[in-house]
Amino acid sequence: MMEMKVISKRFGKVNPMSIADFIKTDGYTALKKAVKMEKITVIEEVQTSKLRGRGGAGFPTHLKMMGLAKETNIPKYIICNADEGEPGNFKDRTLLENDPFQVIEGMTIVAYATGATLGFVYIRGEYQEAIRIMKNAIEEAKLNNFLGNKILGKNFNFDIQIRSGAGSYVCGEEFALIESIEGKPGRTRVKPPFPTSKGVFSQPTLINNVETFANIPVIINITGKEFAKVGTVSSTGTKLICLSGNTKIKGVFEIPFGVPIRDVINDFGGGVKNDRKIKMVQLGGSCGPIIPEYMLDMIIDYERFEEFESKTGAGAIIVMDDRFDLFDILLKTVHFFEHESCGKCVPCREGHVQLSIILKKFINKEATTKDLDSLESLARVMHQTSLCGLGQTSPTSIISSLRYFRDEFLDRIDHPVNL
Ligand SMILES: Cc1cc2nc3c(=O)[nH]c(=O)nc-3n(C[C@H](O)[C@H](O)[C@H](O)COP(=O)(O)O)c2cc1C
Ligand code: SF4
Repeated sequence: MMEMKVISKRFGKVNPMSIADFIKTDGYTALKKAVKMEKITVIEEVQTSKLRGRGGAGFPTHLKMMGLAKETNIPKYIICNADEGEPGNFKDRTLLENDPFQVIEGMTIVAYATGATLGFVYIRGEYQEAIRIMKNAIEEAKLNNFLGNKILGKNFNFDIQIRSGAGSYVCGEEFALIESIEGKPGRTRVKPPFPTSKGVFSQPTLINNVETFANIPVIINITGKEFAKVGTVSSTGTKLICLSGNTKIKGVFEIPFGVPIRDVINDFGGGVKNDRKIKMVQLGGSCGPIIPEYMLDMIIDYERFEEFESKTGAGAIIVMDDRFDLFDILLKTVHFFEHESCGKCVPCREGHVQLSIILKKFINKEATTKDLDSLESLARVMHQTSLCGLGQTSPTSIISSLRYFRDEFLDRIDHPVNL
């Protein structure tokens, strides 16, 4: 299988610091086309494309655009979420470092269609190279009248500023991110109201992932109808996949939705190092499910991923071979979330501490059947009652492991310590 290079077509082929290179390779043709269209027609094209957000939740992009467009309270803002703190994900960094103008063009088209006048790109602090490249791209776009006042001679003003996170994973969550942009500690808010009605500085705000914005110029260039021909019924277009773990080759690969996970591992990853057996694969990142080898023929598709009771479409595939211990991975995952929890709500703040205590009992083979029940019910309570997506999705690895690797849990109960 070959990659389907649509939003990654310029990777390694153009100089990301050069707007001239971008323009030579179809850059800004979509914006030029969009500003001649009715604003509602631009949104309708996105609707026809059935584009869903690439940040993990898979929310239909046109609904956010329509929501922002109908708001009359000005100014309106858009945010490009480039926080990318999820372990196993590095596609947004790759996009920003290789094709920054494509993301800026996408943001500018969305701004035109919705009436936003200022955009923020929220980039995680560790991504210094991406910040440097984006800063240059914004300046170049301004110098060439693709940002600023009267863009392309139209009555359309839009500017972009960069904001940098300080390494907190939860700042990728939309309200924590908004609070961070406002200069406050990154903690979520109770919803509703949603950001499209009350976001940054209480103004209407649209938030999308880097990859989502990168798809907008493609849709305008080829039309929503053509875009929707690629992929599956529920998941159209292509997806950047971050392949890591024990594969021979690791990296970012662009595939059409609908490809089986196994094909990505074999065709792009070259299979597993030293030809060992795959024990398990984690999908989406640390907040995603852990599935066994026999499930790898499952296709990459939002609806299939949602069967794991979690939205895990950010695009990571982390391959673990037969040397890996499930409980070691689960404990490391829980520790990560315990560290990243903002502490605002009880299920997440206290839940990770308790999960960690119970998992250690399994590691030490001191667990009882009651511990198994407690682990299961605690993970579900956290999933259902945590205030934001961090606590709602962090137990997914445990919930899925209890489903697919239950024997391993039972084995640890069956063998007392001094046997
Ligand atoms: C704890 C947490 C971290 C998140 N981190 C990111 C992130 O780094 N990048 C991102 O695009 N979305 C992240 N999200 C999802 C965002 O809240 C939001 O749904 C997304 O940016 C919307 O963009 P989309 O519709 O284009 O997917 C995170 C969510 C949670 C709960
Ligand atoms: S779920 Fe966790 S990160 Fe989210 S608000 Fe509650 S304590 Fe904070």
